[in-house]
Amino acid sequence: MDKNDYDRFARAYSDDAEHNAFNALYERPESLRLMGDVAGLRVLDAGCGSGAHAAALLARGAIVTGIDKSSGMLALARERLGSAATLFEADLAAPLRFADGAFDRVLAALVLHYIEDWSVPLREFRRVLVPGGKLVISTHHPFCDHVLAGSRDYFGTFLLDDRWEKGGEIMEMRYWRRPLHAMTAALSAAGFTIDTITEPLPLPEARERFPADYRLLSTQPQFLFFAVHRPDAD
Ligand SMILES: C[S@@+](CC[C@H](N)C(=O)[O-])C[C@H]1O[C@@H](n2cnc3c(N)ncnc32)[C@H](O)[C@@H]1O
Repeated sequence: MDKNDYDRFARAYSDDAEHNAFNALYERPESLRLMGDVAGLRVLDAGCGSGAHAAALLARGAIVTGIDKSSGMLALARERLGSAATLFEADLAAPLRFADGAFDRVLAALVLHYIEDWSVPLREFRRVLVPGGKLVISTHHPFCDHVLAGSRDYFGTFLLDDRWEKGGEIMEMRYWRRPLHAMTAALSAAGFTIDTITEPLPLPEARERFPADYRLLSTQPQFLFFAVHRPDAD
């Protein structure tokens, strides 16, 4: 079975992420909180998937462009968003087609761990942001991946295989794990200033609705969040 086949399991992933604890009650609330007030701002949702963040950003008055590598995920995003957002296929591991300073905010939610070398996407995010523009990232927490990797080498950057079960479908996943300092170093090297790094708890309502996930998410962080900005003066 192909790894990371988001085209094949687009619907299963998207349906699950809509209401589950990990995405709906943990990742999205924190990413959107870090994005702050986006009313009237041009926002790039990089790795937008089926557009759940994009929908929330639109509802807050943002002008949203979404890009993703998976045509299957983008088809679902189109279904959800219609013409309210501009959507197209793009690989974040390659240069982007946008002009310099085309966006006020960039969101990269749960996508960068699929990319080995962060220097290309981070350089591009910085280029397409206006000076002072903000980038929010959510990604796998190095602690969580360290446990998944059998604690074999915290300092290494290497591929990890995982298997998800969603809506009765098995998804074979493969992504890059890396230590915290590799993430902060990549952000600094790309010219970003780090404003905050957060390790949130799930929303309180997860306790009743998803007790097992709530226990896990409140004792073992799964995702790590960064809010960074492009400094005014380069
Ligand atoms: C875990 S999903 C997250 C989707 C969405 N951001 C969310 O949080 O609901 C990962 C998404 O990243 C996309 N993706 C993976 N590698 C990518 C790449 N190199 N360039 C663009 N998108 C990529 C996948 O197609 C998938 O839609």
